[in-house]
Amino acid sequence: MHAHASCKNEVRVTATDYDSFATAYSAENEKGLFNAYYARPAVLHLAGDVSGRRILDAGCGSGPLAAALHAKGAAVTGFDVSAAMVDLARQRLGEDADLHVADLAAPLPFADAEFDDVVASLVLHYLKDWAGPLSELRRVLKPGGRLIISVNHPAAYAIVKPEADYFAVTQYSEDYVFDGQTVWLTFWHRPLHAMADAFAAAGFRITAISEPPPAADTPAELLPPGMEGRSAFICFLFFVLEAT
Ligand SMILES: C[S@@+](CC[C@H](N)C(=O)[O-])C[C@H]1O[C@@H](n2cnc3c(N)ncnc32)[C@H](O)[C@@H]1O
Repeated sequence: MHAHASCKNEVRVTATDYDSFATAYSAENEKGLFNAYYARPAVLHLAGDVSGRRILDAGCGSGPLAAALHAKGAAVTGFDVSAAMVDLARQRLGEDADLHVADLAAPLPFADAEFDDVVASLVLHYLKDWAGPLSELRRVLKPGGRLIISVNHPAAYAIVKPEADYFAVTQYSEDYVFDGQTVWLTFWHRPLHAMADAFAAAGFRITAISEPPPAADTPAELLPPGMEGRSAFICFLFFVLEAT
């Protein structure tokens, strides 16, 4: 999943600066292995039948997951800290779509117990502190509601950075190429036990942990090298949590 930087079109960004490369990221998300053939189908599979459910897409980006959930009969609200990403989501989902510019690290503009499910796909790893965001997501969920999460797999950090302390919550940066544009993203690594502790402290029970294979229709040329004889690769980790 690591891409090498070139000096051309290189953008140095912090977590929430998707504004500066929104179109390039959205194009990559549409067709690339990690989103189109891995994270998105995995989250949709974990969500199952969502017909008639009210779902909040936290960190919705340009709205590909929101669109897929809507197509499956859910009523979807989305928010993202990047206004440019929300603009792209509005183009995709229509002028009437319920979309907001909001920060997951701050109080959310939604009522208590407003949603049946929340999806937070590939967004929590931008945040150092999970206590506030998770308690906000718990607040807007109905009791018994689900929080479906995908994050950078903490084992990937241990593999890529064997010299680093796996057990410390640590900020790190990686370069990615999005539709020909090189971008440095800054993440927070969090060991697995710290994720589990944060879920419990915010009032969630883990009901599933998933390390799925890529989608069955993934074009062979998109798969990472070394996949022969293997069903999956270490990339993201998926959780289904229940609001207790
Ligand atoms: C990797 S993209 C994922 C987009 C979408 N969830 C998906 O899975 O296709 C991460 C998104 O999280 C957003 N984001 C980052 N930090 C955020 C924050 N503190 N609050 C809300 N959104 C945030 C970014 O702007 C970006 O749109």
